[in-house]
Amino acid sequence: MTSIQRTAVVTGAAAPRGIGKAAALRYAREGWAVVVLDLDEPAAKAAAEDIAAQTGATVFAHGIDVADEPSVQAAYDAVRAEVAAGRLPAVGALANIAGITSPVPFLETTLDLWNKVLAVNATGTYLVTKAFLPDLIEAGWGRIVTMSSVSAQQGGGVFGKTPYCAAKAAILGFTKSLAKELGAAGITVNAVAPGAVDTDIRAGATTPELEDAITSGIPIGRQATVDDVAAVITWLSTDDAGYLQGTTIDINGGAFLH
Ligand SMILES: NC(=O)c1ccc[n+]([C@@H]2O[C@H](COP(=O)([O-])OP(=O)(O)OC[C@H]3O[C@@H](n4cnc5c(N)ncnc54)[C@H](O)[C@@H]3O)[C@@H](O)[C@H]2O)c1
Repeated sequence: MTSIQRTAVVTGAAAPRGIGKAAALRYAREGWAVVVLDLDEPAAKAAAEDIAAQTGATVFAHGIDVADEPSVQAAYDAVRAEVAAGRLPAVGALANIAGITSPVPFLETTLDLWNKVLAVNATGTYLVTKAFLPDLIEAGWGRIVTMSSVSAQQGGGVFGKTPYCAAKAAILGFTKSLAKELGAAGITVNAVAPGAVDTDIRAGATTPELEDAITSGIPIGRQATVDDVAAVITWLSTDDAGYLQGTTIDINGGAFLH
């Protein structure tokens, strides 16, 4: 836990079965105020209402396209206004969860697809972190969590092909470099690298047989729940995790050991 009440900002937190919403809910349960940011603004507002109803926490929602700088600035400005008005405590944690995947084989990828996957997963993390970081530096304490994937470590999976792997590998370098820059500022920057997590990110691109085949390669014998991942994200945001810097935590049930 953190000793002072702060706000956790979570991107990609609207999907009802997604990792982002699970992280936002867990932050709220652990005493944080929460900001839900997502491309799907109505869903973000619905998620915020649900989290507030379940936990009694202060939850603010706003639309954002993490890949679009003016949209990121508008979301940041809206959060800052809430903080300035005393409706939210100062931002203490940022979880960059928004992401998209692509199962398209390399020679069938277009430049548009490549750019889109890199833009949401990698550039989005850059833009949102850049917007919120000055406030963390001013406070002298902060936690930034980034979202990589086992795909970055093992060279892809069934659903995340080359652009996705490249984007999630970029996150690892981003995390290490920023961690070195920010250590003295009281801010930690760490990545999580989940394996298969039971969410809707693969909706329409999978079959029960494929899911069984994926699960059969996991020593723990099941895919991760969103809460398996949320638990690590929120723990990385505690005072207790203050000596982890620039690291990547694997959450893959033993499916990829290195
Ligand atoms: N599910 C898995 O197996 C798995 C494994 C490893 C890593 N991840 C990563 O975890 C993160 C969350 O995945 P998930 O499975 O919960 O996916 P999901 O599709 O359920 O949720 C993703 C959320 O991000 C939002 N989003 C998409 N594009 C956005 C944009 N441009 N701006 C703002 N929000 C945007 C969506 O609206 C959605 O709410 C992603 O970064 C994904 O790559 C997932």
